[in-house]
Amino acid sequence: MKLRSALFLAATLVRSQVISNETLDNATSPPKYPTPWIDGSGGWAEAYRKAQDFVSQLTLVEKVNISTGVGWEGEACVGNVGAVPRLGLHSLCLQDSPLGIRFADRVSAFTAGGTVAAAWDRGLWYQRGYDMGTEFRMKGVDVMLGPVVGPLGRMPAGGRNWEGFSPDPVLSGIAVAETIRGIQDTGVIACTKHFIANEQEHFRQGPEGRGYGYNITESLSSNLDDVTMHELYLWPFADAVRAGTGAIMCSYNQINNSYGCQNSYIQNYLLKGELGFQGFILSDWQAQHAGVSSTLAGLDMTMPGDTSFNTGLSYWGTNLTISMLNGTIPEWRLDDMVTRIMAAYYYVGRDTAHTPTNFNSWNKATYGYQHPFVGFNYGLINEHVDVREGHGARIRDAAARSTVLLKNVNGALPLTGKESFTAVFGNDAEDAPYGPNGCPNRGCRNGTLAMGWGSGTADFPYLVSPLTAIQNEVLKNYGIIVSVTDDYAYGEIIAEASQASVAIVFVNADSGEGFINYDGNEGDRRNLTLWGGGDALIQNVTAVCNNTIVVMHTVGPVLVNSFYENPNVTAILWAGLPGEQSGNAIADILYGRVNPGGKLPFTIGSSREDYQTDVMYEPNGLVPQQNFEEGVFIDYRAFDKADIEPVFEFGFGLSYTTFSYSGLNVQKHQVGPYTPTTGTTKAAPVLGNFSTDPSEYQFPENVTRVPLYIYPYLNSTDLEESYNHTDYGSPISDYIPEGATDGSPQPRVPAGGAPGGNPQLYDVLFTVTATITNNGTLTGEEIVQLYVSLGGPNDPRVVLRNFDRLSIGPGQSVTFSADLTRRDLSNWDTVSQNWVITDYPKTVHVGSSSRNLLLEDTLDLGGY
Ligand SMILES: *[C@@H]1O[C@H](CO)[C@@H](O)[C@H](O)[C@H]1NC(C)=O
Ligand SMILES: *[C@@H]1O[C@H](CO)[C@@H](O)[C@H](O)[C@H]1NC(C)=O
Ligand SMILES: *[C@@H]1O[C@H](CO)[C@@H](O)[C@H](O)[C@H]1NC(C)=O
Ligand SMILES: *[C@@H]1O[C@H](CO)[C@@H](O)[C@H](O)[C@H]1NC(C)=O
Ligand SMILES: *[C@@H]1O[C@H](CO)[C@@H](O)[C@H](O)[C@H]1NC(C)=O
Ligand SMILES: *[C@@H]1O[C@H](CO)[C@@H](O)[C@H](O)[C@H]1NC(C)=O
Ligand SMILES: *[C@@H]1O[C@H](CO)[C@@H](O)[C@H](O)[C@H]1NC(C)=O
Ligand SMILES: *[C@@H]1O[C@H](CO)[C@@H](O)[C@H](O)[C@H]1NC(C)=O
Ligand SMILES: *[C@@H]1O[C@H](CO)[C@@H](O)[C@H](O)[C@H]1NC(C)=O
Ligand SMILES: *[C@@H]1O[C@H](CO)[C@@H](O)[C@H](O)[C@H]1NC(C)=O
Ligand SMILES: *[C@@H]1O[C@H](CO)[C@@H](O)[C@H](O)[C@H]1NC(C)=O
Repeated sequence: MKLRSALFLAATLVRSQVISNETLDNATSPPKYPTPWIDGSGGWAEAYRKAQDFVSQLTLVEKVNISTGVGWEGEACVGNVGAVPRLGLHSLCLQDSPLGIRFADRVSAFTAGGTVAAAWDRGLWYQRGYDMGTEFRMKGVDVMLGPVVGPLGRMPAGGRNWEGFSPDPVLSGIAVAETIRGIQDTGVIACTKHFIANEQEHFRQGPEGRGYGYNITESLSSNLDDVTMHELYLWPFADAVRAGTGAIMCSYNQINNSYGCQNSYIQNYLLKGELGFQGFILSDWQAQHAGVSSTLAGLDMTMPGDTSFNTGLSYWGTNLTISMLNGTIPEWRLDDMVTRIMAAYYYVGRDTAHTPTNFNSWNKATYGYQHPFVGFNYGLINEHVDVREGHGARIRDAAARSTVLLKNVNGALPLTGKESFTAVFGNDAEDAPYGPNGCPNRGCRNGTLAMGWGSGTADFPYLVSPLTAIQNEVLKNYGIIVSVTDDYAYGEIIAEASQASVAIVFVNADSGEGFINYDGNEGDRRNLTLWGGGDALIQNVTAVCNNTIVVMHTVGPVLVNSFYENPNVTAILWAGLPGEQSGNAIADILYGRVNPGGKLPFTIGSSREDYQTDVMYEPNGLVPQQNFEEGVFIDYRAFDKADIEPVFEFGFGLSYTTFSYSGLNVQKHQVGPYTPTTGTTKAAPVLGNFSTDPSEYQFPENVTRVPLYIYPYLNSTDLEESYNHTDYGSPISDYIPEGATDGSPQPRVPAGGAPGGNPQLYDVLFTVTATITNNGTLTGEEIVQLYVSLGGPNDPRVVLRNFDRLSIGPGQSVTFSADLTRRDLSNWDTVSQNWVITDYPKTVHVGSSSRNLLLEDTLDLGGY
């Protein structure tokens, strides 16, 4: 892969509402070199110092070892790098997933990210992160491969949206920051992923796409302009960096026709330059496509280490050692790679939190091979440590508090448990015949849906089905409960539904990662409708039962047109992907132990066209080009702009009580004007020196060579022969971009200066308060939302900027208070390459959803 050197046309665009296809067609990404080196800013000083001390003691091959994975299925975890036994550093273990530990036993299956987003609750997000981190730590994982803010959710059918949080960048940004703090406070490194614009599964990787029969030569390119990058997709990553995420994973896709893991603009300039990221960038599995290019473009760790699974060859490993010996890569660059990895290690306290890995991803048996792929080194591989620590109770609470009540007519809910005849319908209500883990990587739909499919999964320790929990409830009073869980048994369904005083119908829609095609869904959903016969099931029940409650377990928005207005549908709940406590959580809502307070983290529209962005299902060329023409207008911003009425808008959700809003007050803070960061960095430090004599890097005679394992050693004293080793390709003379090896002091980025960007972006300019009153007879939780209108002709009508979830007793009033930062009120300016507060008049809105903006005031921006 050659690095692109053409101008970043899109970056110099004049800001416009819709970006023209001509500008985005074949967009290019400008070269940005050298890779910024870690400087220890933003609370990283001590970790940086410890890392430098450690790295200074390393030999060349030890440095290479820490940066390179050992190869797919080479060790216990989905990723491992080489160890440094001489200094007591174990092989770092990297493990999926964002909702629990994948490929392990005796672990919890947490509520999915896209579902807990509906809780809009900082404390809950932090605690969930902390509980997950605790489990990863106890199993001996160093790097947890989560959380996710890419995909953000540009297209509602995007297969992995449910792993992330919300298509709104502020909701996602706050959720990701809290999750990271929770994870890292346990001593585990969080890896925020996938960087960036990784919005669909189709064509994310060439080989996968070709495997499905598509005629493509490279991964899809997400083409986007500079404003859209900053105001939408990069925004939550800035929050992640500011929260101290130790690692970030670069993505499979190309961004403006340059692969994520070798894109110098996004890695060197945006992430390490502007956002001041101090940790390390690791590649998605097989997302590295070149050695020298990715090294100079900012990649710090390659995963799983081999060129493609189990080749025994690597773009790094031996090759990285060679490129150091032949002078292609400057020493400071390798030192920085390893310093970043070790800084993250010290930053979260892994030097004291470490537990040796006590599980094996590839084999659940107690004894097996340490190097599973090649069947090497037999011994104890699974200690079966139960790491769940009673997390189930909090998972139940998180799932209940993430449930969104969309309709509730005449107090249909909550139920009392004393209904005369309860009927439950739907395959989604029941236990799966092959158990909750019956399908590998959850790649099927059978029984109640509580997580999507792919690498973003964990094995359920149990899965409480809705039917079990509802039955337990009804039987407390020795009531009547019947169920039909065959979605198509219409005769039996009608027979029971026509007798029911309340019918609860469970329906779902699933999606997942692109390596699994289930029922024609190659990761991405092929439609936005309910799965199976969901609509027909509801129709059959409502035809004969005037008190039908619909519960939806879905990965994202679904079309509800066929039933939501039906008067016999008395209540609708969106319960997302609740995790292991699914049934208990929905019973808590149905029977009123928890008053629903969740609000939609996305819009439910009445057609897929209403979203105005969609998955590309057929490639439009050998290198598919996906133009993000809509700019920042996704989800509610797109509906607002086109004046399309959603069915249920972003931020919407009901309670068993009602709230009123009054008394908006805006307090202005005395904060000076914004000053761009200036000056230059220090020169890149070089930590130690090394011999360039190839004979010193030959495979040691006293080390047993594991087949296909990736080592840092040379295979010959002749560098070219060593590179060529198995005559897999011939040495190419890599193009070295201008400035890429320059370790001298570099100009600092005006919008940068610290992790998360220029610290003044986070100055609080205003505090907004309002009074929220509970008008009902039940305690309830209200998510109060603060939106801003930035006022420009090309700005969304409103954008979410802050929120709080308040618990309010019956008849009580509480004060909502939320801050607005400089970033919240700024637009990205492509000319100055910085954030600016425009002269357009700006207003704040406080409301209960994106379309129920109850209070409003103008902002006086003088002096900022
Ligand atoms: C832009 O190109 C895409 C295909 O890349 C096409 O689907 C879309 O309709 C085009 N938009 C306009 C406004 O021509
Ligand atoms: C984009 O590249 C393709 C393939 O090289 C080419 O056919 C097409 O004309 C290019 N489009 C533009 C607008 O340059
Ligand atoms: C793929 O498309 C290219 C360009 O249209 C064409 O030359 C090639 O024959 C196609 N390959 C296959 C396998 O269809
Ligand atoms: C070095 O990298 C090249 C690709 O750039 C690859 O073909 C070769 O096999 C690698 N060598 C080793 C020893 O892994
Ligand atoms: C140096 O080694 C690297 C890695 O094997 C290789 O890609 C590069 O072409 C070599 N450069 C020279 C000048 O030999
Ligand atoms: C679930 O799996 C069982 C056993 O394979 C099968 O009989 C049943 O049809 C499946 N149900 C659904 C909804 O796919
Ligand atoms: C949508 O896709 C799901 C899953 O493949 C399928 O069960 C359902 O029947 C499809 N809906 C329509 C209307 O085709
Ligand atoms: C039940 O659903 C089936 C399949 O859509 C439909 O043919 C039938 O009319 C429905 N029955 C009732 C009573 O709505
Ligand atoms: C609602 O249910 C009643 C039975 O309780 C039935 O008679 C009526 O036709 C249903 N209405 C609709 C719109 O399905
Ligand atoms: C629903 O149907 C029942 C009889 O099945 C009837 O007693 C009740 O009044 C109906 N409720 C409504 C709101 O129509
Ligand atoms: C292998 O030999 C080297 C050089 O004698 C020594 O430093 C190293 O500790 C030995 N390694 C092992 C694993 O025995």
